[in-house]
Amino acid sequence: MLSAIPDRETIDIALGLAVRAPSVHNTQPWRWRPTATGIQLFADTGRHLTATDPFQRSLIISCGAALHHLRIGLAALNWSTSVDYCPDPTDPSHLATVHTTRQRPSDTQIEQAAAILLRRTDRRRYLTQPVPAGHIRSLAGRVSAFGAAVRQVPDLLLPHLADPMRRAATLHTTDRDYQAEIARWSGPDRATDGVPSRNAPAPRRVGEIPVRSFAQPTLIDTIDQPDGAQWLVVGTPRDDRRAQVRAGEAISALLLTATGLGLATSLQTEPLGVLDARQEIRTRLLHDCAYPQAMVRVGWSAGHAAPLAETPRRPVQEVLEV
Ligand SMILES: Cc1cc2nc3c(=O)[nH]c(=O)nc-3n(C[C@H](O)[C@H](O)[C@H](O)COP(=O)(O)O)c2cc1C
Repeated sequence: MLSAIPDRETIDIALGLAVRAPSVHNTQPWRWRPTATGIQLFADTGRHLTATDPFQRSLIISCGAALHHLRIGLAALNWSTSVDYCPDPTDPSHLATVHTTRQRPSDTQIEQAAAILLRRTDRRRYLTQPVPAGHIRSLAGRVSAFGAAVRQVPDLLLPHLADPMRRAATLHTTDRDYQAEIARWSGPDRATDGVPSRNAPAPRRVGEIPVRSFAQPTLIDTIDQPDGAQWLVVGTPRDDRRAQVRAGEAISALLLTATGLGLATSLQTEPLGVLDARQEIRTRLLHDCAYPQAMVRVGWSAGHAAPLAETPRRPVQEVLEV
């Protein structure tokens, strides 16, 4: 296999898929720099949500998700990739350099590439119809390739998730900086970033597991009974920057695989920005063996539910450094 570099058009197409990745509050906190030796990914810390994500974990995970989307896009265009993670000790914002080699994609990569444009964060309630254990095993298999693990939260342990989520949500209702970020990054008329009103349903009823609330929600929740979502916790054995980039890749692989299986998904991370709430999730659900990086709701959308509109993205030129 000869090492080579894709032409500019190929890189642009792959970056067009990379920017479809999920990101916290749809901040799209990434910058890309194609060079003669590889495509470099940088964290755009100017888009850091200091109150929502005080430790930059979600920012780095978002970049990791975009990295995975880029790799899948390149794979579909006949370029296999390898990655140097955090290659510059003098520049912590340089998260990865992607190297390419000509190679045909695997069936799995083609399936994941096909899911990129179909995937949406679906915050509505899901049906109570269970997700088959085989599907959960497939999702767990995909994240393990990136050194992460998935724990499905059994119904009996849901209070251990609901408690810290409720505590974080309560704390945030009176946190002016947090609320300012919600107002700044969500609402109507979002043109190129942020969470549009049309993608945010009304806050959950009392008694339900609270999920992050956004400004001026207008999405109709088509299911008027308790949410049937299965909750997964994605954890990693380490919690450094490299582990978080790879957690982002793992989460992207999970979401794209779930989309390919016809499942709806929604990431939830509100309590992970609150130290003691995250520690509680780590202790009670991961037995102090892994660091929680994100929770994922998975399940089936109501058959009659209208497809969700896609969220906006910044144009590739805006995140590209030439
Ligand atoms: C690291 C990370 C954390 C996120 N946390 C939440 C969350 O707490 N609540 C939520 O509703 N969505 C969350 N999201 C989903 C983003 O809001 C969503 O990806 C973004 O608005 C773009 O929409 P899309 O996924 O439909 O393309 C998160 C996404 C990432 C990558």
